[in-house]
Amino acid sequence: MIDRLNTLLRKLPNWLLYLLGAAYPAWLLYAGFTGGLGVDPVKAMEHALGKAGLQILVAVLLITPLRRFTKINLLSWRRALGVIAFFYIVLHLLVWMVLDVQILSQVWADIVKRPYIIVGMASLVILLPLALTSNNWSIRKLGPRWRVLHKATYLAVLLGGIHYIMQVKGFQYEPYVYLGVIIILLALRRLPKRSKKPITKPRMRRAT
Ligand code: HEM
Repeated sequence: MIDRLNTLLRKLPNWLLYLLGAAYPAWLLYAGFTGGLGVDPVKAMEHALGKAGLQILVAVLLITPLRRFTKINLLSWRRALGVIAFFYIVLHLLVWMVLDVQILSQVWADIVKRPYIIVGMASLVILLPLALTSNNWSIRKLGPRWRVLHKATYLAVLLGGIHYIMQVKGFQYEPYVYLGVIIILLALRRLPKRSKKPITKPRMRRAT
């Protein structure tokens, strides 16, 4: 049953994920222009892109434990999901810079005034080399170093979760749920794998 599901999942082409990934910001833009995003469409777009970027990164973190504990294998989606999340976060940054703050000097003033922006930027800076090396050529070129480099995803997602908590006004439980899930998913990776003991044959008693 699981094997059949995995074969089906593996057959889903990555371009379909990229297409779906591109459809969401396009829909947001359309909704923004046609009054579907409420009274402050820029803020709504900024929030929606940040949230979706974080959600996809959490989904990326989920792939390994999902495979380990349920045998459902979504590894073939991991790279595309990571790239889509990065794309959303770049758009999140652009909406903030170009549509929200608009004036360059104000961008700097906002960065200094709001430490959560520095945390968000740190997360994006970590994600940048990961997105740039998410291709077959880089995997070949970097060899085993590629895996080490891509472990930085954990820190980027953690910073994303912290950025989310820092930017809320007043108390909201939702950002804490995100951070809790991120911490649990990271902790699951630290669980030691059960070592498979070699099956020892029962010793034959020598007939006396
Ligand atoms: C590139 C640097 C970043 C900047 C300049 C930035 C800026 C912002 C701003 C201005 C807000 C809205 C704050 C408000 O309305 O008061 C926000 C919210 C948010 N950002 Fe970022 N951010 C950045 C990176 C990130 C990253 C890397 C992530 C995720 C990994 C992220 C996820 C979020 C989330 C989830 C929210 C809240 C959305 C909601 O309330 O629905 N941001 N960010």
